[in-house]
Amino acid sequence: MLTKKYKGIILAGGNGTRLFPATKVMSKQLLPVYDKPMIYYPLSILLLAEIYEILIISTSTDIERFKNLLGDGLQFGIKIEYAIQETPRGLADAFLVGEDFLDGSPACLILGDNIFYGSEISTSLKSAQNHDGGTIFAYHVADPERYGVVEFDTNHKVLSIEEKPTHPKSSLAVTGLYFYDSNVVSYAKTIQPSYRGELEITDLNKIYLNLNNLNVITLKRGFAWLDTGTHDSLLDASNFIHTIEKRQGIKIACIEEICLSKGLITKKDIIRMLSNMGDNTYSLYLRRLVG
Ligand code: DAU
Repeated sequence: MLTKKYKGIILAGGNGTRLFPATKVMSKQLLPVYDKPMIYYPLSILLLAEIYEILIISTSTDIERFKNLLGDGLQFGIKIEYAIQETPRGLADAFLVGEDFLDGSPACLILGDNIFYGSEISTSLKSAQNHDGGTIFAYHVADPERYGVVEFDTNHKVLSIEEKPTHPKSSLAVTGLYFYDSNVVSYAKTIQPSYRGELEITDLNKIYLNLNNLNVITLKRGFAWLDTGTHDSLLDASNFIHTIEKRQGIKIACIEEICLSKGLITKKDIIRMLSNMGDNTYSLYLRRLVG
């Protein structure tokens, strides 16, 4: 039984310059990862965490596109709100933009371009919500210098967290999924912009670490945390999703399916949605689900 009601924030702004020209007229988080828009993947993680009040943050030009895609969430039995981040002031800025939405609730932040896939995710998401303070997730990567990096001692106690260190102290990257208690907004307000002019999420994590209140869950090697930061990694992510879906005949991050399994909507609701979906592999999958 979860003790506190978390609200979710999906941060889906930024300039997307690393994916130009694919992102020249459209937000990166709306690009397809195989058969669905990228934002479906982080949204599915929030739903698996049973977080049903969600704020999507994006730029003033892109926010309308997200609204067109997902609406107020009512069709999925959830509540989706929207807020604008005019310039990419940093990941921790999500808590300043989202202050009114959070209204004192604990928060789960997920980056709109992060893809998580693995069998034990629901357990990890539940355990994160049962921990006071902050919970972040570490994942072994080949190129830790591109990420926040966490260092442990032999007793799995966190020694340090560094943002994009030139000489990483470990190969454990901090993923773009963060759970924080209701102090998060007040802590975020104390952060000063970094050398790159951003309110760093790493500085927020350091606040929790210094208070001895940061829990780090290491995702196992059988788990997949996929990058979508370059044209190559985006293609790799699409191929990964394609491979698993084709082999299993089960979709990853099918929002309607998750909402059905959580009892948020009924088969009748999906049948109603299908009338506007046309014929494609996604709608065929849903038809089989409700058939
Ligand atoms: O992906 C995990 C990494 O995310 C962490 O390991 C790092 O500690 C964390 O700082 C962050 O790394 P980056 O600095 O490389 O993130 P990036 O600038 O690529 O932003 C991540 C996503 O968030 C991206 O899709 C754009 C969006 N974004 C970014 C910023 C800075 C916003 O929507 N608003 C922003 O202000």
